[in-house]
Amino acid sequence: MIRFTALAFLASFLTTPHACLTEHIARAAQASTANDCVGSPAPVNNKFAIKNAQVFNGNGFQSSETIIIIIIINDARIFTVGGNVPPGINTIDGTGRFLIPGLIDSDVHPSSCSNLVTLSGYGVTTAINMACLNYTACSQLKGQLGTTDYITAGEIACGTGSVHATAFGVPPAETIGPDRDLAAFVDYTFGNGSDFFKIVAEDKGPTVQQQTTMVQLAHQLGSFAATHATMMEYYDQAIQSKADRIQHTPADGLLSKAQISQIRSQGQFVTPTMEFYRLAFANPALGPVLGFNASCNYSNIQTNVANMHVAGVPIAVGTDAVGSFAGVINYPFGRSLHCELQNLVDAGFGNAKAIQAATAGAAKLYRLYDRGSIATGMRADLLLLNSNPVEDITNTLDISAAWVGGIQVSAISAQKGQSCDPASLSP
Ligand SMILES: *[C@@H]1O[C@H](CO)[C@@H](O)[C@H](O)[C@H]1NC(C)=O
Ligand SMILES: *[C@@H]1O[C@H](CO)[C@@H](O)[C@H](O)[C@H]1NC(C)=O
Ligand SMILES: *[C@@H]1O[C@H](CO)[C@@H](O)[C@H](O)[C@H]1NC(C)=O
Ligand SMILES: *[C@@H]1O[C@H](CO)[C@@H](O)[C@H](O)[C@H]1NC(C)=O
Repeated sequence: MIRFTALAFLASFLTTPHACLTEHIARAAQASTANDCVGSPAPVNNKFAIKNAQVFNGNGFQSSETIIIIIIINDARIFTVGGNVPPGINTIDGTGRFLIPGLIDSDVHPSSCSNLVTLSGYGVTTAINMACLNYTACSQLKGQLGTTDYITAGEIACGTGSVHATAFGVPPAETIGPDRDLAAFVDYTFGNGSDFFKIVAEDKGPTVQQQTTMVQLAHQLGSFAATHATMMEYYDQAIQSKADRIQHTPADGLLSKAQISQIRSQGQFVTPTMEFYRLAFANPALGPVLGFNASCNYSNIQTNVANMHVAGVPIAVGTDAVGSFAGVINYPFGRSLHCELQNLVDAGFGNAKAIQAATAGAAKLYRLYDRGSIATGMRADLLLLNSNPVEDITNTLDISAAWVGGIQVSAISAQKGQSCDPASLSP
């Protein structure tokens, strides 16, 4: 069923160049996926401790004498870091291992519970879903104990006649035209459980004035807005609108020093999704489909990310992954997040800084103050690694065990040495 939809969908995008393949695939998937959530596993132990692991503190690892105790009450929190293990508590030996917070994918499109399970198997404990196209389906993915925690945007604010709107037949009444009642639209998305607001800046997209208004409306409701922008012209709109978050990186040129310092001084955060571009540029058939022209290349992506990082723009780790659609695209959940960490390191991030951008940095980005670091009161989203990722970033794949909200992930799919070569990902 999904495959059929995706193939029909492929036919539509091959004739319509557009800039966000992945959101469209997500729409196709979300429209067709039956609810496959089977309920959460009941926690078996109400308490456990991880003993003698080295604990990531944002900059590196501290002493191996650490004891973490987790008490499971619904969404389990870390009870204490340090001290002694009281008698009768199940203890996991972390000797010689490395404990980092669960990873957060700040731009991803899971559309089923099995997608969330795939993410968990790679230690991605939080997924920030970038487009909700069916509020009923999205609400079913929320709060699934023991699998990746799902945080979601609402319906995307895309322009009437824009690529995002036309390629997928978004009813005109749901798009942003000149007369759209923006306050009603923003209310409607939050009224249906959106965790934040999503805007698509593109050709025929909302005007800068409309984007600015929607950002302000989201603020009035105590939330924030993230804007999709993949080209220089639209990135500049996202900057001008003061959107709190900018998703992606301009592919067709280099941001000026002035633009980058404006991003920084306005307190905007950026999720570059380098992996999305790396895969797109590796596939000659995909570039034109995505609307890339001769001005677009991966070197622009790397330079923009490096320049923003050096200038102190807060960066989070996101992939734009959509999963696998047989014969169409394979942009795997989870594994891609580890590849994105490697891309950021290639762009000049230190290893610890990259991990920080996928944990505490991303938590700050999406205002998830209950996660992203290993401390008392934080969600027990944890990865126990066999080897040190601060020495070699590819070691984030060397997962010994993972917990989401204190519940151990039953099947780890990540493997040390797993390749990020696009050739290994053919559909
Ligand atoms: C939205 O999702 C629900 C639950 O998965 C499904 O029953 C319904 O058919 C979907 N609606 C549309 C328009 O696809
Ligand atoms: C939620 O969405 C439905 C349509 O799916 C709409 O009729 C309703 O008004 C929305 N609820 C709120 C509170 O905005
Ligand atoms: C590529 O597209 C961008 C955005 O539409 C445009 O600004 C640029 O001039 C184009 N470059 C070429 C070589 O066509
Ligand atoms: C990438 O594209 C830019 C134009 O956007 C061009 O100046 C630059 O030389 C290109 N770099 C590579 C490595 O192709």
